[in-house]
Amino acid sequence: MNRYLLAPSILSADFANLGDAIGEAEAGGADWIHIDVMDGHFVPNLTMGPVVVEACRRVTELPLDVHLMVERPEDLLRAFAQAGADHITVHIEACPHIHRTLSDIRDLGLKAGVALNPGTPANAISEVLPLVDTVLVMTVNPGYSGQPFLEEVVQKIATLRDGRDGRGLGARIQVDGGITAQTAPRAAEAGAEVFVAASAVFGHPEGIGAGIRELRQALHSAPA
Ligand code: DX5
Ligand code: ZN
Repeated sequence: MNRYLLAPSILSADFANLGDAIGEAEAGGADWIHIDVMDGHFVPNLTMGPVVVEACRRVTELPLDVHLMVERPEDLLRAFAQAGADHITVHIEACPHIHRTLSDIRDLGLKAGVALNPGTPANAISEVLPLVDTVLVMTVNPGYSGQPFLEEVVQKIATLRDGRDGRGLGARIQVDGGITAQTAPRAAEAGAEVFVAASAVFGHPEGIGAGIRELRQALHSAPA
C-alpha cells in the first residue's frame, strides 16, 4: 500500500482524448482522478460540470475526486453525486454554512473535503475537521494549472497536520497546485499525504505514466 496518494488533475489532459488520458493515468498508477470544476465567479476560469464527471465515470473505477471552485456549491452537490463523484471538496471561502454543506455531502454517501485558499488561515477549518475526509491545501491561487508552488503555504500544511494528529482525527492532508517532483517532497515533509498534479502528469514530455512515476519516485525518498 502506498504511503502517499497521487491524484492527477485532468485540467491539463487532452480533452479531445480524455478517456485515453484517464486510462493512461490509471495504468500509470494514479490513485484518484481529480476533477477541477470552476464557475468563472469564485475563480476567474470556467471549466467543466457534471457531464464531464459522468463521462469520466464511464471510463474508470478509480475514485473521482471533484474539487468545486464555485460559488454556492451546495446547489450542485446532488448533480455531481448523480454523475458519479466519489469525493466532493468545497472551499471554506465559498461556504457560509460549511457545517451543513459537509454534512450534506456525507448524507449523499460521498467523502467530504474542505479546501483552503493560500490566504486563508489553517484555523478557519478547525471546527469542521472532524467532519471531513480530506483537507485540501491550495498551494497556488486556484483558477489555472501550471502556476508555481507557493512556498509560504508549507507552514500551513505542517500546522494542519499537527492539529489533525494532535486531535487524533482521520482527515488526510491533500495539496494542490504547482506539485512537481521538486515540490512534492517538501509538501510531504510538512505533512501532506495526497498530491494533486495536472501539468506534472498530463504535461510530462515523456507521457502520463512517466509523470506519475517521477512523482512517486520523488516521494519515495521523502521522510514520513
Ligand atoms: C488549480 C486547480 C488544480 C490545478 C493544478 O486551480 O485546483 O487542481 O489543476 O494544476 P498544476 O498541477 O499544473 O499546478
Ligand atoms: Zn484542484
